[in-house]
Parts: sequence; structure tokens; C-alpha cells
Amino acid sequence: MSSLTLQAPAKVNLTLDILGSRPDGYHEMDMVMQSVSLSDEVTLDLGFPGGIRAESGLRFLPNDKNNLAVAAALAFRKATGQTWQDLRIRLNKRIPVCAGTAGGSSDAAAVLRGLNHLTNAGLSDRELSVIGQTVGSDVPYCVLGGTALARGRGEILTPLPSLPPCYIVLCKPAFSISTPVLFRAWDRNKHRLHPDTRGMVDALGTSDLMGIGRRMFNVFEAVLTPHQRREIESIKLSLIQSGALGSAMSGSGPTVLGLFDRDTLAEDAVHTLEATYSEVFLTRPV
Ligand code: C5P
Repeated sequence: MSSLTLQAPAKVNLTLDILGSRPDGYHEMDMVMQSVSLSDEVTLDLGFPGGIRAESGLRFLPNDKNNLAVAAALAFRKATGQTWQDLRIRLNKRIPVCAGTAGGSSDAAAVLRGLNHLTNAGLSDRELSVIGQTVGSDVPYCVLGGTALARGRGEILTPLPSLPPCYIVLCKPAFSISTPVLFRAWDRNKHRLHPDTRGMVDALGTSDLMGIGRRMFNVFEAVLTPHQRREIESIKLSLIQSGALGSAMSGSGPTVLGLFDRDTLAEDAVHTLEATYSEVFLTRPV
């Protein structure tokens, strides 16, 4: 048996825009993504008897091919033509589940990177991304990580200049949002406010943290239900009142992020939110 442990960082959206719907049922995206220090730990035990399965200790997470980590292992084996039968994937989950922070996609990307290493397959990140695409739209970005513009379904990636040193507070309210339902709500909706993605990219290019904060924007916020929207708005207000330079929902939510230039302000924000919410995290960009 050979084993390997990898970190699988969460991602947040600095911007999320939808350019239109596509004939294949997906949507054309335009998003600025950032990976953060909050990470799952993924341990692969290749050759551990029992087939290909995931273990997380969380009863609500599937351990079969419905878990993106197992789906990634199956996709990797198929793409490489390898014939191994047994893989145990141990997931030490720290990223909130179904939260708009790509926890499952990041675990899947870690499985691809880990198997590439353990089996000496020698695939490039680009080749791993192509396999990742078949697993989920956010997996290619998670293979790459860092700061990036994601277009197409999410698989057309352009690396961007890193965020200047800063702190990112994450807060996940206790409800969850179905991604397909949110896309359908966007299809029905006639709001067409868009983020200033170009301005965000320029602000990253000049390390203008204020400009980055001011341009944080997620089009999904406009199509939340009134109840969801109230809660998201109240978290954003709390972050801004604590001194955040900007705040927005990440991905299809419900996690909200706030961007801070000072650790003391970010810590205050965490303490304030912890009075109401149990899933609050102080992170840094990675
Ligand atoms: O690719 P993934 O399985 O993560 O997507 C989940 C769902 O989100 C899809 O079934 C689709 O309804 C929606 N989606 C979309 N356009 C994208 C990505 C996801 O419509 N670019």
C-alpha cells in the first residue's frame, strides 16, 4: 500500500458573473476565484483493500461515486487506463459542506493530484484539469488554485496576480442552497446587474486592495429568496461594520466572505459573527 496526504484549500469568489445560458444546459461564467487557507486534509491509501471509497466520519456525505473525491478517482483511473482496484480516500473535512466554497471540488482536485503522484502517471496540471472537468465545473480551477479568472463552464482558466496580503473572513449561515435551483432562478430573473470584472482584474494587477474590496459582487445574490437574502445581507452588513473593505456571497452560497486589510479588524468580525453563527473562519489567501 502507498499513502499520501494532501491539503485541499477552499475557494472563494471575489466576483461571480453569468454571461448567459448554453445549449448544453450549463451557463457561461465569468468569475474571479481565490483559494484560501481553510483546507480539508485528504489522505489517499492506494492498495488498501475494499474497493474505491471515501471515509469522512460525516454520515450525510456519500462514500461512493456520488462523492466527488471518489468520482475523481474513477475518472483518473479511466483516463489513464490504470487497473488498480483499491483506494481508500480519508477526508478530514474542515471546509463547510454545500457552502459555495468548493470543498467537494477541492477534495476531487487533491485526489487527481495525489493519484498522479502515487501512480507516477506524469500528467500535467492541464491534463488533470481536463479529467477534473468531467467530475465538476469547479474542479479544473481547484487543480490550478491561487488567483484566477474562470470562464466557460469554469474550466477556461487565466492565472491572475495574487491578492496583496490580507485576511478573508468566511461565515456560513445554517441553511443550504441548491446550485441548479439558483441557476434556474437566475434564468427566470430579469435583473441584469453585473460585476466590474475588468476593474477587479485591473485592481489585482495594481495590488489595490480597496479597489478589490469595492468590486466584490455575485449576481446570484439578486435571485435569492427573501429569507435567504435577508440573512446574507445581515452577514455582509456585520462584516462591513467590522471594517471589511468589501463583502459578497461566494459561489452559489450561502457562505459570505469579507475582505480585511488588518488582522485585528478581521478578528473582531469573527468574534461578532460567532455570537450568531457556528461556522465562522478567519483565513488568508493562498
Ligand atoms: O458541474 P457541476 O456538477 O458542479 O454543476 C452543478 C450544476 O450547476 C449543474 O448541473 C448545472 O445545473 C449548474 N451549472 C451551470 N453552469 C455552470 C456550472 C454549473 O448551469 N457553468
